[in-house]
Amino acid sequence: MKLIFRECVIDDLVTLRELSCKTYSDTFEHMNTPSNMKAYLEQAYDIGKLRGELSNINSTFYFLYNDEKLSGYLKLNEHKAQTDIYDPQSLEIERIYVTKEFQGRGLGSVLMNKAIDIANIQEKSYIWLGVWEKNDKAILFYKKNGFYVIGKHSFFMGEEEQTDFIMRKDLILSN
Ligand SMILES: CC(C)(COP(=O)(O)OP(=O)(O)OC[C@H]1O[C@@H](n2cnc3c(N)ncnc32)[C@H](O)[C@@H]1OP(=O)(O)O)[C@@H](O)C(=O)NCCC(=O)NCCS
Repeated sequence: MKLIFRECVIDDLVTLRELSCKTYSDTFEHMNTPSNMKAYLEQAYDIGKLRGELSNINSTFYFLYNDEKLSGYLKLNEHKAQTDIYDPQSLEIERIYVTKEFQGRGLGSVLMNKAIDIANIQEKSYIWLGVWEKNDKAILFYKKNGFYVIGKHSFFMGEEEQTDFIMRKDLILSN
């Protein structure tokens, strides 16, 4: 298993959109109506919106390749690019996805460790993320990685208002 991270550039736009839509659908389509899913995918992964996110200096996307096969991705936000909190001392993991075929083989931990490494290099005090309250699998994964719930916020999946838990992991700063 040869694992390589690559920071995404603007030329990755189409691949990023395909991977984002596929991983999101695979994760959530069985728990949401087709019309709400369609509306969400069109809005969240609109090509112009993604282009703006790729160009935002406060957002970074990474692709993870496993034996040269694209197998997951990460989106990290700082400062004003964050979807909540906006604390310069924090790093947000907005997206962390492993493709269906590679889940349960440790790649989620590899993505998480990448986020932690970057947060440590940037001398952040904590990492936070939002996770749908019904995404039990991801919540367990985050708890296992030292995250705890600090609040909630709502978001719209198409026409349906849903609740995200906000979870935080404290980082131990050396020196
Ligand atoms: C959540 C996700 C990133 C985890 O990645 P993964 O590659 O499946 O998880 P890993 O194989 O790296 O597991 C890491 C650890 O978490 C544990 N874990 C993972 N899923 C778990 C679950 N459902 N229940 C309990 N523990 C779980 C594993 O047992 C493992 O523990 P270990 O290190 O002690 O063996 C991945 O399943 C995924 O992409 N899911 C769909 C997308 C998603 O929900 N993203 C989050 C949106 S907020």
